[in-house]
Amino acid sequence: MIDFIHVSKSFPNGDVVLDDIDFSISPGEFVIITGKSGAGKTTIGRLLIHDLVPDKGKIVVEGMDLGKIKSQNIPVLRRKIGFAFQDFRVIPDKTVGENIVVALEIAGYDSKKIPEKVKHTLNMVGLSGKEKLFPGQLSGGELQRASIARAIAAEPPILFADEPTGNLDKETSLEIFKLLQKINSDGTTVIIATHDVTLISLNIGSHIHLEKGKIVKIEKRSEEKSEEKEDKEEKKEANK
Ligand SMILES: Nc1ncnc2c1ncn2[C@@H]1O[C@H](COP(=O)(O)OP(=O)(O)OP(=O)(O)O)[C@@H](O)[C@H]1O
Ligand SMILES: [Mg+2]
Repeated sequence: MIDFIHVSKSFPNGDVVLDDIDFSISPGEFVIITGKSGAGKTTIGRLLIHDLVPDKGKIVVEGMDLGKIKSQNIPVLRRKIGFAFQDFRVIPDKTVGENIVVALEIAGYDSKKIPEKVKHTLNMVGLSGKEKLFPGQLSGGELQRASIARAIAAEPPILFADEPTGNLDKETSLEIFKLLQKINSDGTTVIIATHDVTLISLNIGSHIHLEKGKIVKIEKRSEEKSEEKEDKEEKKEANK
């Protein structure tokens, strides 16, 4: 469960980026946060991992009140949130596989289980066979998958994917979106920050829209309405 309660954030010499923002995200929810460039989408993600602190308001993540979090608990918080960064932040001189190993090591994963877990994660994101390539040798879509792989390898309950389809063609964007839906259908709460109109027009998941520091729209879509569930329902109907 994630709660933003009357959260405001501004930067020195800047306008108010988030102005009295209120929203909740339930476990297992699929949420799309939209708003034009500079609307504060990444800022929400950074607040979530306590990389930034709000000027006002309260943020609660998985029962942890971030206003009261002790420094030794910040790694605990960050293990709960896989963050696929807008600028990827994969380590350029490590291979795709090694990047995932690093993520698992940071998460304190049992070293004996790491090779199998790397394999499983690459398979999950559709990068089997690319383990030994360096990030610079990947296509844009593959690089995005590598970034997502690193974020989800240690199975955090929450994934924040920041502009996961930026600079990708429509078809590749939809493939990445499907991957995020698959991750969500396995139980992970998925939050996507995007201004990709293709994704928004799909009308899948809950939708939070930011404008001038405010949430101007919150549309909650229950899990039942997700494409996966609809597909399952259709199959059930067909089998009757
Ligand atoms: N460290 C900082 N210092 C000053 N201003 C900042 C800082 N970080 C972000 N901002 C400002 O906060 C605003 C919101 O930034 P943010 O990165 O959250 O936007 P965004 O919605 O993610 O945009 P984009 O779609 O371009 O990624 C921007 O106007 C940005 O210039
Ligand atoms: Mg951003």
